Amino acid sequence: MNNKLCAMLGIDFPLFAFSHCRDVVVAVSKAGGFGVFGAAAMDTAQMKVELDWIDAHIDGKPYGLDLAIPENMGNRDDTHQTLHTLLAQIPDTHKQFMDEVLTSHGVNTATPVRADEDRGISHFLDTAMEQVEEGLRHPIRLFVNALGLPPKFFIEKSKAAGVPTGALVGSREHALRQIEAGIDVIVAQGNEAGAHCGEVSTMVLLPEVVRTLRASGSDAPVLAAGGIATGQQMAAAMLMGADGAWTGSAWLPSTESSVHPAVKQRLIAARSRDTIRSRAMTGKTARQLKSDWNAAWEGKDSPGFLPMPYQHILTDRALQLAEKSVDGGNEQARALLTEGVGQGIGLINEETSCRAIVQRYREEFADAMERFAEIAG
Ligand SMILES: Cc1cc2nc3c(=O)[nH]c(=O)nc-3n(C[C@H](O)[C@H](O)[C@H](O)COP(=O)(O)O)c2cc1C
Repeated sequence: MNNKLCAMLGIDFPLFAFSHCRDVVVAVSKAGGFGVFGAAAMDTAQMKVELDWIDAHIDGKPYGLDLAIPENMGNRDDTHQTLHTLLAQIPDTHKQFMDEVLTSHGVNTATPVRADEDRGISHFLDTAMEQVEEGLRHPIRLFVNALGLPPKFFIEKSKAAGVPTGALVGSREHALRQIEAGIDVIVAQGNEAGAHCGEVSTMVLLPEVVRTLRASGSDAPVLAAGGIATGQQMAAAMLMGADGAWTGSAWLPSTESSVHPAVKQRLIAARSRDTIRSRAMTGKTARQLKSDWNAAWEGKDSPGFLPMPYQHILTDRALQLAEKSVDGGNEQARALLTEGVGQGIGLINEETSCRAIVQRYREEFADAMERFAEIAG
């Protein structure tokens, strides 16, 4: 395929795979797609370890980096915050509720987990600045941010390093703001998507964003995101004006994915109706697999959601404890397990390698184009 975006990034099939798992990023890029490493949940030191590993294993194939530096958040002053300082600010009522939900499923809340370690997170400007600088020391070909307008330094430093920037948007107004701020590539992410998402479906949002940008004089590439689990959907999105497809959920149950095996099982069994948009996971509205965790926070005994990042800190800890408990043989804890995932998960029914998934998208894409040629006659 030969569009402007492919030329910009040095790829021939514009299938973008967002993942928090370095193995997925490497496998997708090596298979001819474009892996994008999501580093939002880690501090700079860990991000460096992961990017060094990617650089050593990706055989020089192009890849991208993604942060989630929120424009608006519950606590957004510039003091240095770490998981421990943030945890100390969470009301006891909410910590107690977390413990009650866990113990009602037989989970031992005293078990140490990785979420207990103290570290900075990219939601805060000081850590985000470090991460931007570290990210740009690696051969990334695209630097993306989610959750609103990125800080100026994100765009300025990327431009100085010659790295194109991207941003996720859920409305045409947001797309325009991002372009005006200097972002190069727009990811139009619809309501079907896994994790944070807006209210407009991909089918409507994509043409709205493309039309709005072109009317404004911008020819910035637009990627379609949200619910795209097959090559036919990718082809449809490109016929509607997208320059490629940006995907996330499709890679969660892949062989290379580091998602817990019990979560993978639940994802593979899930139908498209088994997701819910809720603030229970991060404090901002995010699509996730329905589970007893989000049901409890949505339920009548809930103390209410905390704003980001506090709710996310509780969820992270609770899910790690639940996974450990499942590992220890507690079957009851399985019902708590959840993951950010989109409605497209209903189209994914097996665990296969990333290479096989990229190949499937390619074949389905080709089938769709043949079908289109027949229809167009
Ligand atoms: C588990 C999970 C975590 C995500 N975290 C982020 C993130 O940190 N930053 C980001 O830009 N997008 C994130 N996303 C959204 C993806 O980048 C992508 O837009 C979305 O998955 C596309 O919709 P789909 O899941 O239907 O393919 C996440 C998605 C999932 C499934």
